[in-house]
Amino acid sequence: MREDILEVLISEEEIAQKVEELGKELTATYQDKFPLVIGILKGATPFMMDLVRTIDTQVEFDFMDVSSYGAGVSSSGEVKIIKDLDASVEGRDLIIVEDIIDSGRTLAYLMNMLKNRKARSIKLVTLLDKPAGRVVDIEVDHACFNVPNEFVVGYGLDYAERYRNLPYIGILKPEVYTD
Ligand code: PRP
Ligand code: MN
Ligand code: MG
Repeated sequence: MREDILEVLISEEEIAQKVEELGKELTATYQDKFPLVIGILKGATPFMMDLVRTIDTQVEFDFMDVSSYGAGVSSSGEVKIIKDLDASVEGRDLIIVEDIIDSGRTLAYLMNMLKNRKARSIKLVTLLDKPAGRVVDIEVDHACFNVPNEFVVGYGLDYAERYRNLPYIGILKPEVYTD
């Protein structure tokens, strides 16, 4: 896999450090609450699993699959729910966990939906923010890293479903997706 990576953008160690910082923050914020941590499948799973293990208070897990991308690089702009939450979010404190906010379409749609379902509070945390990709304005509560407008993979992020298992964030060689 390494041969397909142009450059390691964010190392395993850098990720672990930011995850730990965020975990401490969330531990303090939600000490007397019982937040529902919602991972957005599939990209958010490595980040969510590392993050929840740094949170030292009671949490509940749930997952949603809201897709806006096809198999390739470009965003179709279409958002559809593939898997909804198991339980009601009414009156709950939600922590939405994402791997990347790019155009913002996925999360704008989702945040709106969860507000309508009467969540008590919603915090959006993301591993990566790509501000240059933004099409829809969206408020991100916490982004561990900003990334340039490059096609990044690893630590949950895929290209055509591959590279999610890389332990770091890397920039994919252009020839891998232009072939
Ligand atoms: C990717 C990524 C985010 C979303 C960001 O997910 O993981 O969820 O797109 O893009 P946006 O800000 O432009 O909406 P994708 O739909 O590819 O599904 P995946 O997580 O299963 O790869
Ligand atoms: Mn995703
Ligand atoms: Mg994807």
